[in-house]
Amino acid sequence: MEEFIRPTLKNIKDYVPGKTPKEPGVIKLASNENPHGPSPAALAAIAKESKNLEVYPDQKSILLREALAKKLGVKDDCIIVGNGSDEIMQIAAATFIKPGEEVIVPKNTFSLYEFFARLFDGVPVFVDLKNHEQDLDAIATAVTKKTKMIFLCNPHNPTGTIITKKSFEGFLKKIPDNILIILDEAYGEYVESKEFPDGLQYIKEGKNILVLRTFSKFHGLAGLRAGYGVAKSELTRYMFRVKPPFNVSRLAQAGALAALGDKAFLDKTYETNVSGKKYLYQELDKLGLEYKKTEANFIFINLKKSADEVFVSMMRAGVIIRPLTSFGLPQCIRVSIGTKGQNEKFVAGLRNLFFGKHT
Ligand SMILES: Cc1ncc(COP(=O)(O)O)c(C=O)c1O
Repeated sequence: MEEFIRPTLKNIKDYVPGKTPKEPGVIKLASNENPHGPSPAALAAIAKESKNLEVYPDQKSILLREALAKKLGVKDDCIIVGNGSDEIMQIAAATFIKPGEEVIVPKNTFSLYEFFARLFDGVPVFVDLKNHEQDLDAIATAVTKKTKMIFLCNPHNPTGTIITKKSFEGFLKKIPDNILIILDEAYGEYVESKEFPDGLQYIKEGKNILVLRTFSKFHGLAGLRAGYGVAKSELTRYMFRVKPPFNVSRLAQAGALAALGDKAFLDKTYETNVSGKKYLYQELDKLGLEYKKTEANFIFINLKKSADEVFVSMMRAGVIIRPLTSFGLPQCIRVSIGTKGQNEKFVAGLRNLFFGKHT
């Protein structure tokens, strides 16, 4: 059978998802989902749209793209909607990577960048993180004549750190125009820092950048599958040729459109994240654990002990966290910021694990 499959598949590892709880009462803080559930406006729109399911969806997600274009201040032909933003990565890889071209991927980062590079016969070139942050100088140095694409994750999964506007602009000056930068802003809506660059600004200036965003996190719709990419139309035009015609379901288009305007829900999501973050910093400080200040909806903690063992103990305490072994960081974990009650349960479990029940 081996010779029947494309050779590149031999180098591809299975995706390791966050574990989903089966037992009642167990909470999942492993996949950076929205602790408030889905946007209520999306739920209402989905219920309404479900009456039209005998009809194929709009193949270009026209209404959703128009609404996004208005909100983002770009032309709608610069936007392409996918069955999650991971599909946009796949479409981009299928559209642009020629066999043997190099794709620069930060090490210890969201695994799908490497996956899609390999799937389309690109050659992933890994660049180490520096102090658990993406090292733009080293990435610029890794560019060769064969480089086609650079993936950047801002905020970074799994560390929650950001590339600042200043360092991004310095980096852009060093990168040749014929390289596509894929700027993954899956967690961009959670950012508090004023130093955060808005990727769209550079697209408006004509740069060769594809910005990725998603409805999975901030809008609470990970199970619905809707995400989008924004780039200049000279690029999206060809991505539309690769996109399967009916990739975004009627329910996903309607739900995402409604979620976009669900201000009360989005405000609540932001506030919960800001206060959850403060609480977790305070408690992690008390426990003396090393963590990174985060601009996303999760916190990276360097436990300096086996993350897989901690995962098992935390499971027993009713909390599913994400050991970062599959990210190549076997002593670190990533924990989604939850509701107040969920955060407290996580901290209680961690305290018990490190110091025993009675401290
Ligand atoms: C950095 C990053 N990009 C993209 C995604 C994929 O999002 P989507 O659900 O839109 O495919 C995730 C999901 O965890 C992510 O962490």
